[in-house]
Amino acid sequence: MSARVLVVGGGGREHALAWGLARSPHVDELVCAPGNPGMATIGECAPVSVNDPSAVVDLAAKLDADLVVVGPEEPLVAGVVDALQAAGRLAFGPSAAAARLEGSKAWMKDVLVSAGVPTARYATFGAGQEENAFAFLDTLSGLYVVKTDGLAGGKGVVVTESIAEARDAVRAYLTGAAFGDAGRTCVIEEGLTGPEVSLFALCDGRRAQVLATAQDHKRAFDGDVGPNTGGIGAYSPVPFVGADVVDEMMARAVLPTLAELDRRGANFRGVLYCGLMLTPDGAKVLEYNVRFGDPECQVLVPRVASDLFVHLSESASGDLATPIELSATSCVGVVLAAEGYPPAPDRKGDVITGIDRAGEHEGVIVFHSGTAHDDQGRVVTNGGRVLTVTAVGADVAQARTRAYSAAAEISWPGVHYRRDIGAQALS
Ligand code: AMP
Ligand code: GLY
Repeated sequence: MSARVLVVGGGGREHALAWGLARSPHVDELVCAPGNPGMATIGECAPVSVNDPSAVVDLAAKLDADLVVVGPEEPLVAGVVDALQAAGRLAFGPSAAAARLEGSKAWMKDVLVSAGVPTARYATFGAGQEENAFAFLDTLSGLYVVKTDGLAGGKGVVVTESIAEARDAVRAYLTGAAFGDAGRTCVIEEGLTGPEVSLFALCDGRRAQVLATAQDHKRAFDGDVGPNTGGIGAYSPVPFVGADVVDEMMARAVLPTLAELDRRGANFRGVLYCGLMLTPDGAKVLEYNVRFGDPECQVLVPRVASDLFVHLSESASGDLATPIELSATSCVGVVLAAEGYPPAPDRKGDVITGIDRAGEHEGVIVFHSGTAHDDQGRVVTNGGRVLTVTAVGADVAQARTRAYSAAAEISWPGVHYRRDIGAQALS
């Protein structure tokens, strides 16, 4: 088969997906929408407004795409996959009904509990229910977690040991002060403790295959301090997550969740990203996302030894048949960020040097996120998370050494990155 594939999105995750798809002998044309300067080196880039289902359908029709791979959560929640399927296109990713798993934390918790998945005790409250929410907080001890229901770009979660702060968050959410109407429903959970890891499973509605484990680094600075980011580095696999935990989570979380979603008419095809906490009482699901993580995708895809196009197509068509093969490598990804990130992705337009030299290092691939071309065609920063420098190695230690020596080749004014990505896996 010689397939035309459209990748929707323009971040590091989509660059990694495009890179993996381009390696397939089945793929002979790759278009990225909107893509980025890194993706432009492996396929054509086409402008599109990714959250507009009809715009994506029109582009897929113009290209006569055989497979459309949707990377980010917003287009999934907006129903881009539904619109593509209705137009007769094969599309990788869940329907809007199934993407609600990420779009609504209250609904996700309800699914988890119905499916019997191990998860934190919780309750949901709406506008005007402050007093009930405060009473529920009083039943928890020690660590309080207050979350806004809807997508809040990773900003809608407060984890605190202070009940006063937890009450303030409840008030801010329920009155609409924090996130307007989108935040007027909140989920309160008991706080869990333990290392946080992720498990990625490819799903076809009923069946699932383990893709890999990974660990993200959310805080901006070394030693897990500083403000939260979208993810500032990752590695895969996580050596301290045993095969027994993976098997248990497939059996007790992923498969029952697929069955419960199917029962609710929300058949889940795509990648299920399970955010887990390894608590003293065993692994529990903190959250589900309905897409690959960014930067986790950048450290998963380089480890896939079998044909990514085949796997994503089988997931999309509801028939996962071909076993996923992973290379026996570890992969570490270090995110190089622009000055001021986080919170501000404001500094842009600095010329980046050394990307090609970095890419020549053994085992290294540089994925683009926040880059652009200037009017002279040079690659410049476009704010936020700019690049993910990934390296595969025989183990995490070798992969880290390779990633950091490649990262040292790259520079622009204000570039910064954590020096301890993957360090937890060494001890
Ligand atoms: P979420 O958006 O639900 O993934 O939450 C963001 C982050 O908040 C997670 O990655 C955890 O670090 C933390 N978190 C969420 N729920 C809990 C919980 N029940 N106990 C402790 N930490 C939590
Ligand atoms: N890196 C975390 C996420 O993609 O949600």
